[in-house]
Amino acid sequence: MTSFVTVNGLRAGYGHAEVLFGIDLDITAGQVSTLMGRNGMGKTTTVRCLMGLLKPTAGRITIGHQEMSAAPPYRIAQAGVGLVPEGRHIFPSLSVSENLRATARRTPDGWTEDKVYEAFPRLGHRKRNFGFQLSGGEQQMLAIGRALMTNPKLLILDEATEGLAPIIREEIWAMLGRLKEDNLSILLIDKNLDELARISDRYFVLEKGEIVWKGTAAEFDSQRAHVENFLHL
Ligand SMILES: Nc1ncnc2c1ncn2[C@@H]1O[C@H](COP(=O)(O)OP(=O)(O)OP(=O)(O)O)[C@@H](O)[C@H]1O
Ligand SMILES: [Mg+2]
Repeated sequence: MTSFVTVNGLRAGYGHAEVLFGIDLDITAGQVSTLMGRNGMGKTTTVRCLMGLLKPTAGRITIGHQEMSAAPPYRIAQAGVGLVPEGRHIFPSLSVSENLRATARRTPDGWTEDKVYEAFPRLGHRKRNFGFQLSGGEQQMLAIGRALMTNPKLLILDEATEGLAPIIREEIWAMLGRLKEDNLSILLIDKNLDELARISDRYFVLEKGEIVWKGTAAEFDSQRAHVENFLHL
């Protein structure tokens, strides 16, 4: 199995505050990987480093065999990494359609605006509405659709079901299941262990900026109580 992303000894922080203390990750192509950990443990900081939004102070990030440790965000996007950021960050003064097209990168047989509307019919009904007029769930679908429109090889979702109504969560989990069937590589950060357990192939647990547990789906199932201790659920 080939790794799409490899991270070795990643260290990063904000000013003098160190947050990541030497993280190793490998994200296998075609698999769903999950990064878990309690609040403030460094999950989003790890994602920011992967996306080139925060410069690591040490370590190596390789994406699709290219050295990307100090690469700017546009190069990471070109290498095929798409992000659904924590807090969604859609463009409030652009329409749904404009949001989807703003950062799109076309590929043959790839995601198009119409395909996104097929996947999320609610968005199709709202395509001329502005971002600020959408419900939280619609904004989240838009953030996912916008990331898909970059036709990523790896889709990273940072808390994509956080704070949403159960029916919207179900739609998003169903969508992630379909993306997995299409062999898209996915990195998930989410707190819903039952849903994660249905879809995830690999797990990494962060505690205070270090990976304290990693394992396969089978290892997660058999050691779940032990893993949950790290999460204090
Ligand atoms: N912009 C920032 N400036 C300074 N410190 C920050 C900044 N962003 C995050 N931190 C700190 O870095 C640490 C890790 O935060 P991070 O957002 O990576 O955690 P997380 O695991 O994503 O948490 P959550 O589950 O709450 O999203 C925390 O102590 C946080 O307070
Ligand atoms: Mg976070």
